[in-house]
Amino acid sequence: MKTTISKIGAHADQEVTIGAWLANKRSSGKIAFLQLRDGTGFIQGVVVKADVGEDLFAQAKNITQESALYVTGTVRAEERSPSGYELTVTGFTVISESKDYPITPKEHGTDFLMDHRHLWLRSKRQQAVMKIRDQIIHATYEFFHEHGFSKLDSPILTGSSPEGTSELFATKYFDEDAYLSQSGQLYAEAGAMALGRVFTFGPTFRAEKSKTRRHLIEFWMIEPEMAFVEFDENLEWQERYVSHLAASVLKNNQIELKTLGRDLSKLEAIQAPFPRITYDEALKLLHEKGFDDISWGDDFGSPHETAIAEHYDKPVFITHYPTSLKPFYMQPDPNRDDVVLCADLIAPEGYGEVIGGSERIHDYDLLKQRIAEHNLSEETYEWYLDLRKYGSVPHSGFGLGLERTVAWLSGVEHVRETIPFPRLLNRLYP
Ligand code: 4AD
Ligand code: MG
Repeated sequence: MKTTISKIGAHADQEVTIGAWLANKRSSGKIAFLQLRDGTGFIQGVVVKADVGEDLFAQAKNITQESALYVTGTVRAEERSPSGYELTVTGFTVISESKDYPITPKEHGTDFLMDHRHLWLRSKRQQAVMKIRDQIIHATYEFFHEHGFSKLDSPILTGSSPEGTSELFATKYFDEDAYLSQSGQLYAEAGAMALGRVFTFGPTFRAEKSKTRRHLIEFWMIEPEMAFVEFDENLEWQERYVSHLAASVLKNNQIELKTLGRDLSKLEAIQAPFPRITYDEALKLLHEKGFDDISWGDDFGSPHETAIAEHYDKPVFITHYPTSLKPFYMQPDPNRDDVVLCADLIAPEGYGEVIGGSERIHDYDLLKQRIAEHNLSEETYEWYLDLRKYGSVPHSGFGLGLERTVAWLSGVEHVRETIPFPRLLNRLYP
């Protein structure tokens, strides 16, 4: 019977065959332990010389790391194994041998591992992070579909630059100038006026010269956009969505979280509602904590965000930032026009801003004025202004950075380990 490691428990005491790679092995004169992996999980294959005979045992001792095999054996319940089972090997064939696999079980430097990312992905830890990423994507579709949102695909090649012009990847679109998308938001707004509630999910690009543990050049963003939703309700959607992601990873990724040594209490604490403080209050808190390098109108850097986050045991919303710090499309606070109805969600443990969102300007004249103030071309944004001409309504949305969220929930230090092939300031290979 052919099966996979994750399904092996259904075949206890039976003989099965799996296709697998040799992750590691150790052996003595009489017994060899093969650590096998097939992508669905890991299992130990036990080869006993007295059972399989001299020849096969000698072969087993010689299998090299990452060789591909068909392994046949009897499934045995084994309490000490993470999968709960092990395989008493009765036979195997080598499909293809792997010689001098560069990523041996010893320690390697980050540059070496990043150069071998195509192989590094096979390691237990990297597989665990990829599975948590996959689970977060799954839980995203689950959450938004359950609440009546439609997935709307925004274009990658665009003529607009919603998040400012300094970080654009410019390219040619035949005779026109084009940019790689920084955000699907503006298109999501058009979608929300058609479908009510939508979310986009796709790659976004920022030519940021930042070399930090939180920045990628190419990252994936989930951007819900909702018609008839104002500032407060937008925050409620965010805290419910993020709580759902944490609960879903806790429920479905126990093995991966264990592999990564994640402190589960940190995930258990991620439960709506989340605390909210205004930019002004955050600034006051920073001054109390001794940060005298920052005054009203300055943006918060990582050390500031981390200091604010440390004050709470949950993610925290910082709301009402100065208008001058934020993009052109944000709705001003009706009580004071020097701040906007926006919020950043700051994750605990130094993971920083995982969500940026806001209520959007829905008044035609004000939006037109802001486009002019930001020196943007009215022609490029004509379609976006149209949305305010024909049945404009209050609407809000937000963008969650997938890689920062994966890093946070997995407890991984750097976002480069949270995407299969990271694009970083100095890295386009592999
Ligand atoms: O705050 P940002 O720039 O917001 C927007 O793009 C809005 N248009 C979203 C919206 O309202 N629809 O980016 C949103 C999130 C950040 O909070 C962060 O998690 C992530 O995207 N992000 C990055 N992640 C990795 N590397 C980068 N260089 C990132 N820049 C932003
Ligand atoms: Mg932001």
